[in-house]
Amino acid sequence: MERGLDLARAVAVLEGGGLVAFPTETVYGLGADAASEPAVARIFAAKGRPRGHPLIVHLAEGAALDGWAIEIPEAARQLARAAWPGPLTMILRKGPRVASAVTGGAETVGLRVPAHPVAQALLRGFGGGIAAPSANRFGQVSPTTADHVEGELGDAVGYLLDGGACEVGVESTIVDLSRGRAVMLRPGGLAREDIEPITGPLAAADAEAPAAPGTLDSHYAPEAELIAAAPDEVPAAVAGARARGARVAVLAPAAAFAAWPELPAHAHRLPDDLPGIARALYAALRDLDAAGFDVVIAALPPAVGLGEAVGDRLRRAAGPRRKSS
Ligand code: TXA
Ligand code: MG
Repeated sequence: MERGLDLARAVAVLEGGGLVAFPTETVYGLGADAASEPAVARIFAAKGRPRGHPLIVHLAEGAALDGWAIEIPEAARQLARAAWPGPLTMILRKGPRVASAVTGGAETVGLRVPAHPVAQALLRGFGGGIAAPSANRFGQVSPTTADHVEGELGDAVGYLLDGGACEVGVESTIVDLSRGRAVMLRPGGLAREDIEPITGPLAAADAEAPAAPGTLDSHYAPEAELIAAAPDEVPAAVAGARARGARVAVLAPAAAFAAWPELPAHAHRLPDDLPGIARALYAALRDLDAAGFDVVIAALPPAVGLGEAVGDRLRRAAGPRRKSS
């Protein structure tokens, strides 16, 4: 695998139907030409991802919406103007340019204009849409550094654009605008508070919502047992896990540890601000998993701003075990 910042090389790989891993402000993506069926098929093969999980198409600018989407509601155009480039994906009715493998046959498509300068340069150099899921193997947490990508997908990637660590650290917020009212399918890097002034209150996903398996939903299962707890419940959770003889780590903002001077557990300190927590979260989960703790107790942040996305990811990582052992 080649790795660096050679944009001409990355564009040539995309034009040849290959895969380019690239940084966005949220997480790294694994990209292919969104108009090419065989190129898009390579993404599913590389990730080991089932065909029914649709991909997001990345565009250089909101003005490129037409062609990739049809019947675009006014709220979507307003949201595009307010939030793009940025960590927002909109689900719209799919236009003729989208390869059918991108959407797994669905009539809708996820579209996003990323803000990262390397992603922008790649999209402008390529000229078309780039279909890209997060650049991890199916079932793993999203990568926020080029090393994370290389470790998991090195062999499948034609070129890895190394843009350093991702600024936001959690995936984009996904809003469905294809069915008349705005529905939040996945909280993410753009806070609800920045969307609702334009769309009105975001409804929760219901049974009719297009299937959005979500990021960590039911498939990211860390080796350790992860417990998501309110901060004031952390000491009791530690005591309970210790009573079972477990090796315990606590994942919480640095300032929270001041309240727990005698905590008999490994302390993994996160930044104290929500953007800092989101930025550090996935690398922390990878590190703790690699360190081999039996139990990781994660303090839930308040559900405001980026706290909604961080809490969502922690709850999903704490979800039902899928491993047989
Ligand atoms: O921040 C992000 O969104 C990153 C970067 C690379 O852009 N991408 C990302 O892609 O997280 P992925 O594939 O890992 O997660 C996208 C989620 C999946 O759960 C998928 O099912 C859902 O979006 N999705 C995509 N297209 C959809 C559609 N047409 N309808 C409903 N859900 C859709
Ligand atoms: Mg993903």
